[in-house]
Amino acid sequence: MSEKKRVVVLLSGNGSNLQALLDQEHHYSYQIVGVISNAPEAFGLERARQHKVAAIGLDYKNFSSRSAFDQRLAAEVGRFAPDLVVLAGYMKILSPGFVEKFTGRLINVHPSLLPEYKGLGTYSRVLADKKPRHGCTVHFVTPELDSGTHILQASMTVRPTDNEESLKQRVQAMEHRIYPLAVHLITSGRLLLKGGDVLLDDHPIDPLGYQLQENALELA
Ligand code: GRF
Repeated sequence: MSEKKRVVVLLSGNGSNLQALLDQEHHYSYQIVGVISNAPEAFGLERARQHKVAAIGLDYKNFSSRSAFDQRLAAEVGRFAPDLVVLAGYMKILSPGFVEKFTGRLINVHPSLLPEYKGLGTYSRVLADKKPRHGCTVHFVTPELDSGTHILQASMTVRPTDNEESLKQRVQAMEHRIYPLAVHLITSGRLLLKGGDVLLDDHPIDPLGYQLQENALELA
């Protein structure tokens, strides 16, 4: 395989998506070279250290403003010379300056079938609205929250017995498959953003993202 692409992960908490990315990197075209958290106590940093990956905690409280924090964050990310920056449960809204610096090289996974249910609390909102389907979306990041061009989207039927915890578990199980896959597709050059369209193997994909199902999370 040609040289692996360099990936930096930004997170704020548990880091189960980071774990999935680390566990699967050996058969994909990327390597996680650094993990940065805005919460120094985030368990995700511990997961990185256990994997011998550089882990940096930047305490938001030590900065006078969001832009001061994001300037430092951009400098720390830049030191890793990443090909791709991956948000994995990064719970701070990034300033437009940061996003612009990494445009086209910055992705996120969100626990809903975007454009529905942007923002927080997606599981409880989906249950309250009695939605028949739920899922997750991998998308490019733009300054507007959860609004960038879609890459992959995985969906499932909401069961009558589902509660917030079971929905979260089922959605995260899908995230742990589709996020490493999305990172691989980008870093291998198979998927790219061209003039606002996402091309996979030179073909435009569904504007909602390449569609996957809970029971079929592989590319066709
Ligand atoms: C994920 O479920 C993702 O959808 C959202 O934040 C959560 C982070 O979970 N953006 P983890 O820290 O990867 O376990």
